[in-house]
Amino acid sequence: MIRVVIRPMTPADWPAVEHIYREGITTGHATFEAEPPAWDGFDKSKLPGPRLVATDTDGVVVGWAAASAVSSRPVYRGMVEHSIYIADAARGQGAGGALLEAFIAAADTAGIWTIQSSIFPENTASLRLHERYGFRTVGIRERIALMGYGPLAGAWRDTVLIERRRPHQHMTPYMRARLSQLDMNP
Ligand SMILES: CC(C)(COP(=O)(O)OP(=O)(O)OC[C@H]1O[C@@H](n2cnc3c(N)ncnc32)[C@H](O)[C@@H]1OP(=O)(O)O)[C@@H](O)C(=O)NCCC(=O)NCCS
Repeated sequence: MIRVVIRPMTPADWPAVEHIYREGITTGHATFEAEPPAWDGFDKSKLPGPRLVATDTDGVVVGWAAASAVSSRPVYRGMVEHSIYIADAARGQGAGGALLEAFIAAADTAGIWTIQSSIFPENTASLRLHERYGFRTVGIRERIALMGYGPLAGAWRDTVLIERRRPHQHMTPYMRARLSQLDMNP
């Protein structure tokens, strides 16, 4: 296990974030995008929060997580699509779990009720990570888009649509009142 500190991302983190993004792209199983965007594009497409980085105990950025709005329609204002990337050298040591846990907590606090993502079926680490933090599989979207680069360039690839709904999202006021009477405030 690696010890990490989680904090909000700042523009000064971009070179490290961009590098980690690029390492993830190199796996060929993180995203359909062949290149990270420039900072301006990233900054415009991602919501201001939650936007987090994980650093090691020396302050070196080893991972990032951020989200985009799913829709501009007000009714879906609590739905986001997130990305999480851990530096090559830090993978498989629990950093992803620590970062995702903090990201979920920040999203819950911000009033986000659905976090969703699309993951390639080949990305077993990401599927396992998200399953562990309460994401469920909505379905497999078969041959949803054409891969433009990497080992599967030229293939129509599937993605697994996953989501996590904030707990107690659908409780009625009566259920909330009952739980608080029972000292089980959600
Ligand atoms: C996916 C990713 C974020 C996971 O982060 P991580 O720090 O490596 O994950 P963790 O070490 O916290 O492990 C989380 C779980 O995944 C499992 N896991 C990690 N690597 C794995 C692998 N290669 N195969 C299968 N399971 C794996 C771990 O065992 C752990 O499960 P457990 O708690 O049951 O033991 C990271 O591998 C990554 O950045 N990959 C490249 C970019 C990417 O694909 N991002 C996601 C796009 S959808």
